[in-house]
Amino acid sequence: MLSNPGEPEVDVPVRRWQDIPGWFTWRDAQEEAVAHFPEGSTFVEVGNYLGRSLCSLAEVVADSGKPITVVGVDTCRGSGPEGVRGINAHGAAVADGGGTFAGLLHRNVLACGFADQVLLVVGDSESTARLFADASLAWVHIDARHDYDSVAADITAWRPKVAPGGWLSGDDYIPSAWPGVVAAVTDLLPRAHPWSKIQWRWINE
Ligand SMILES: C[S@@+](CC[C@H](N)C(=O)[O-])C[C@H]1O[C@@H](n2cnc3c(N)ncnc32)[C@H](O)[C@@H]1O
Repeated sequence: MLSNPGEPEVDVPVRRWQDIPGWFTWRDAQEEAVAHFPEGSTFVEVGNYLGRSLCSLAEVVADSGKPITVVGVDTCRGSGPEGVRGINAHGAAVADGGGTFAGLLHRNVLACGFADQVLLVVGDSESTARLFADASLAWVHIDARHDYDSVAADITAWRPKVAPGGWLSGDDYIPSAWPGVVAAVTDLLPRAHPWSKIQWRWINE
């Protein structure tokens, strides 16, 4: 479907993760995680949008030859208006799919060749966290809604799921653009540090 003038194209031809629309910059973090954790680990990315970062992670895992389980979690209904300018960054994709971009996300995962490697959960972050046993996950990366309450809820839901030695991290650790992210991480995870480009990471020591 064609987008309206001024709206981003979302239904684009995809053969590899670089073709997928999104804001992903933390490939070095994915490489560090895949190098660090042993085979048999499970990684969860919360907030996938159209699968750009998720398919990159699946590629890093595939290239490593390590059997690591990759789980993507997204409501597929977008984050709504966000940030200082109230931009609805996912609105076009939601509208394109008649209220959900689940089809587009899954199609992109298929197109990149990772349908058998990536488990997609179409669901809310907090509800989905309850599906996992405590201390069962090597790495959880949070990139869902960016306001204080949402980031705090995500951290509260996922922190118990991280195994000893595991990592809980997230995106957009930028005080000027996303003060809610920085404040929630500071309040709930005082030992967290800036990581990669504009990410944060807490290690479950
Ligand atoms: C910034 S985008 C993710 C971008 C993606 N990681 C990338 O690099 O391309 C945020 C995503 O979080 C999802 N989201 C927002 N709130 C959520 C929630 N409570 N549970 C699960 N997903 C949520 C939105 O649907 C949206 O796709």
